[in-house]
Amino acid sequence: MYFVNESAVNLERIVYQNNRKDYLRLDLNENPGGLPEEFISDVLSEITPGFISQYPETYDFTEALAKFLNVTSNNICLVNGSSEGIRHIIEAFTSINGRIVGVSPSYAMYEVYAKMYDRNFVPIKYTDDLQMPVERIIEQLTPDTQLLILLNPNNPIGNAYTEDEFEQILKRSIENEITILIDEAYMYFYNNTFIDTALKNAHVFVTRTFSKLFSLGGLRLGYIVGQEKDVKVIQNLCTPHNTNAVAMLFAQRIIEKEGLLDSIISKQLDGKEYLIADLRANGYEVNAQEGNFIFIKPQYKDADELVVLLREKERILVKAYDKVGCLGKCLRVTTGERKYMDQFLTALYSLDKVNFFSM
Ligand SMILES: Cc1ncc(COP(=O)(O)O)c(C=O)c1O
Repeated sequence: MYFVNESAVNLERIVYQNNRKDYLRLDLNENPGGLPEEFISDVLSEITPGFISQYPETYDFTEALAKFLNVTSNNICLVNGSSEGIRHIIEAFTSINGRIVGVSPSYAMYEVYAKMYDRNFVPIKYTDDLQMPVERIIEQLTPDTQLLILLNPNNPIGNAYTEDEFEQILKRSIENEITILIDEAYMYFYNNTFIDTALKNAHVFVTRTFSKLFSLGGLRLGYIVGQEKDVKVIQNLCTPHNTNAVAMLFAQRIIEKEGLLDSIISKQLDGKEYLIADLRANGYEVNAQEGNFIFIKPQYKDADELVVLLREKERILVKAYDKVGCLGKCLRVTTGERKYMDQFLTALYSLDKVNFFSM
């Protein structure tokens, strides 16, 4: 008898533009400039036919990563992009109809996975001024909740939690036996981590990605950190050889290359500051918290219209978000090195104008 999983049939997935290479990509929080070309060539020169033909070996890379994070390799599960890790945490630590709570708006895949596996995702809304009071989270940590998903910091609203706020959340989660997933995809842009909390507490996981600051989105690599016993459960769900050899080689060389990460971080933060200052000087309202992205409220044109104009006329990709608290409809723009910010600013100022012919 044929069987088709109805949840899979009915799942709505976003089919995103698949031809982005000739654009300035400020839509998915990647590093628009990527890694230095010389570094890429050096790493590529290490790749031999044998390296590609054999199944990937994880030992060296996991050891290097463990050293970099100051954890042991048993605390790490490598995944094919952190989105895969999030999926496995949901598979392993929630049940059908299980209650998952998470802030909203946020990264879309938490809700997609919840639907995929027939879980019940309960969104916790931001305030109008784009804050997430800790009480809003705590009141949702009911005894029937199985998983809390938090981000450090969130995307697209870049808020993060203080140690004290997180302690309160952790205390209630432990009381009610709720697993916590802390998504640290954007943690490097402000440099505070809850890895120590994950190491000290059962049922607390941190997910990280190499797609953002590390500029390896095209290679698909991420990891989960947690206590050994919990990490082992996730490991059991992974497909064999789930992370590819080229991705691990690049990630390892980035970690080992002295000064590389610091230089990417400082260029990115410099570009972000520059962008915000210029926008404000030109009368734009901006919501910028942590992370390599900001919200910009257009002055004259509708945000959706600007997305199209920027793409069609300037070959720049950004996203529009509706209902960004009291700001209303906004552009969400990935930040990056100054030269890309300049390109974006020039384009924005030329397009976000009153259309005299339609007045
Ligand atoms: C908050 C957050 N978590 C996870 C991911 C997925 O990253 P990866 O490329 O590692 O699957 C993204 C991607 O945009 C993200 O914004």
